[in-house]
Amino acid sequence: MLLKPLPALTILLLGSVTFAQQKPLSAIDKKVEALLAKMTLDEKIGQLNQYSADGLATGPLTENGNKFQQIKEGKVGAMLNVRGAKDTRMVQGYAMQSRLKIPLLFGLDVIHGYRTTFPIPLAEAASWDMRAIQSSARVSATEAAAGGIHWTFAPMVDIARDPRWGRVMEGAGEDPYLGSMIAAARVHGFQGNGLGNLDAVMACVKHFAAYGAAIGGRDYNTVDISDRTLWETYLPPFKAAADAGAATFMNSFNELNGIPASGNRYLQTDILKGKWHFKGFIVSDWGSISEMVAHGFAKDGKQAGEEAINAGNDMDMEGHSYINNLAQLVKEKKVPMSRVDDAVRRILRKKFEMGLFDDPYRFSNEDRESKVLNLAPNHEIARDVARKSIVLLKNDNELLPLSKNLKNIALIGPLAKADKDMMGFWSVMWENDHLVSLYEGLQNKLGNNTNLLYSQGCDVTDTSKRGFAEAIAAAKQAEVVIMAVGEHFDMSGEAKSRANIHIPGIQEDLVKAIVETGKPVVVLTMSGRPMIFNYTADHANAILQTWWLGSEAGNAIADVLFGDYNPSGKLPMSFPRSEGQIPVYYNYKSTGRPSQNDLGINYRSGYNDLPNSPRYAFGYGLSYTTFAFSDLKLSKNKFSKNESTTVTCTIKNTGPYAGEEVVQLYLRQLVGTVTRPVKELKGFEKISLKPGESKTVSFVIGKEQLSFYNQQMQWGTEPGEFRLMIGNSSDHILLQDKFELVN
Ligand code: BGC
Repeated sequence: MLLKPLPALTILLLGSVTFAQQKPLSAIDKKVEALLAKMTLDEKIGQLNQYSADGLATGPLTENGNKFQQIKEGKVGAMLNVRGAKDTRMVQGYAMQSRLKIPLLFGLDVIHGYRTTFPIPLAEAASWDMRAIQSSARVSATEAAAGGIHWTFAPMVDIARDPRWGRVMEGAGEDPYLGSMIAAARVHGFQGNGLGNLDAVMACVKHFAAYGAAIGGRDYNTVDISDRTLWETYLPPFKAAADAGAATFMNSFNELNGIPASGNRYLQTDILKGKWHFKGFIVSDWGSISEMVAHGFAKDGKQAGEEAINAGNDMDMEGHSYINNLAQLVKEKKVPMSRVDDAVRRILRKKFEMGLFDDPYRFSNEDRESKVLNLAPNHEIARDVARKSIVLLKNDNELLPLSKNLKNIALIGPLAKADKDMMGFWSVMWENDHLVSLYEGLQNKLGNNTNLLYSQGCDVTDTSKRGFAEAIAAAKQAEVVIMAVGEHFDMSGEAKSRANIHIPGIQEDLVKAIVETGKPVVVLTMSGRPMIFNYTADHANAILQTWWLGSEAGNAIADVLFGDYNPSGKLPMSFPRSEGQIPVYYNYKSTGRPSQNDLGINYRSGYNDLPNSPRYAFGYGLSYTTFAFSDLKLSKNKFSKNESTTVTCTIKNTGPYAGEEVVQLYLRQLVGTVTRPVKELKGFEKISLKPGESKTVSFVIGKEQLSFYNQQMQWGTEPGEFRLMIGNSSDHILLQDKFELVN
């Protein structure tokens, strides 16, 4: 947003008012100031330096001497990838040998669980259930904190419109509104009742900013987007996370419109610390400061460090740019001492808030650790979130739910017995932890009366059809076939971009071979991203998108297959028909020649050879029951910008099963001084209804829902007509009306 300059007199007055009314220092601030006064420049720089433990590197390690010795010398402020009460206690012990005994922070990528593994974040986003998402983060934090961890590098809140980008699995999908709600839920979950509690870890909101807009979906790639797209699409979840009280932020590997994020003053100082009043600290991404040399933004590590700290980056993760150069940069007056002090203050404040100066080992307690990890109630929550994350994409002739009295079920596909793949890319990998495979989940669900006829058919990336004959034979003996196809856990994640996002290998050929047996086929698609599977979509009788669901994957899927849970998930990201459509997302603009019949023929915007629409749209997902939407009412059809209207509608469960529906509210401003998307999600509610039951849902629409950035990038409303749409998917609008905003 462009801010108008204030007249000089106002600045003077404001200045003196601020000075006179400056808040007294808080107890923590006083401690921070007292400690800062004792610190040498080298000790201050040490606080800004973060190293990874060598054993568990999550990025390329650079040798920089003996890390433990440097900790003893006060040259390290934080570690990452040290985990477990025993190891964190040991490493903290080195910090206690330093002159000022400033405790280390221990950070780790606790992204979808610590010991109990939860569904990948994209899967959880499909639940549209904020309570479930928050409780998943809560359990993860409780376990991680008991394992000596102070700080998780999550939530990742990057909006993603390109499923080729492997990191879509870590985020909440394509929509800024849903993404913002989820960002806040995760921050609240991780930070619980506040820093200082023994079950709370600091959240780290990442990757600031616009990392998800990497050109071509190639990880780490350049981002070049308009200020409007930045503010409307990519920044809202970051703002929501900052407002939710996130303790820290991480910047990102990408450049944004020519300036790498780590050296980007506009993002870090002007927006985050300035406009949004963020009081926590910013950590770089792994080596992202030194990578500004490869970007061509700095000539060497020294200049990179200078650019980063002056732009507002506080801590250097594995970049070695601060530890090697900052003292010299301060001496040369290229970096002001006040900036170094500000960065150190931000970090020390968090260490005080976490209670680490009272007891640096308070999180590193082996006794507590042994009592908190992997508990049955944690697994119950994981199972509940997992089944809520499953999306029913197709269910012809109500094939699902399956009866538990079937005699022979064929279980076919490379992921049918997979356990490790259920953990997803960012699990904290413990060798002795158990993940329930689909096969085991079915065994747990079904008694001895049902035969499970297993055949792998092929491997995920196989090119040979050798195993097909056995799989076909198994299918022929069964009353129904369940197929598990998709990606291995390490095919979507960091540095896992793919140009071809079809179900890998010959798996769809296997689906075809089984479909051709004539048996009813349920296909489970397991992946960390939207995949393309047109044959399956056309020919399988039922399809469940089951992502990677974590520790309880198999049990959760079995709950859904056999009707112990009625699926309620809705896609948080569009599933394309072809890579050629990417990026494909629901909140696109009309253009001057909007497509007709979904095709770009007759000089219309689109493709001649493929519809514009995705295979499965944002917000789409079926249930075993049916819901009727009716009685749309608006309290006002004409109102001014300081008023609001209340929208109500009634949802009735008209089918045979209890179930949940996500009622989705979309708006479109028909005419604006800048064009508006054809649809924007502005509200949703997930409701639960017994058969025959009705509920009235209401939404309030006011300034917040109706504002956008005008031509001057000022946030506000414009009078005009709006279309209001309510549906159970972005492409399935069931109720519509119009209203007018007047001056
Ligand atoms: C990733 C971050 C992660 C960090 C530490 C980087 O490569 O981009 O998301 O938190 O490594 O593991």
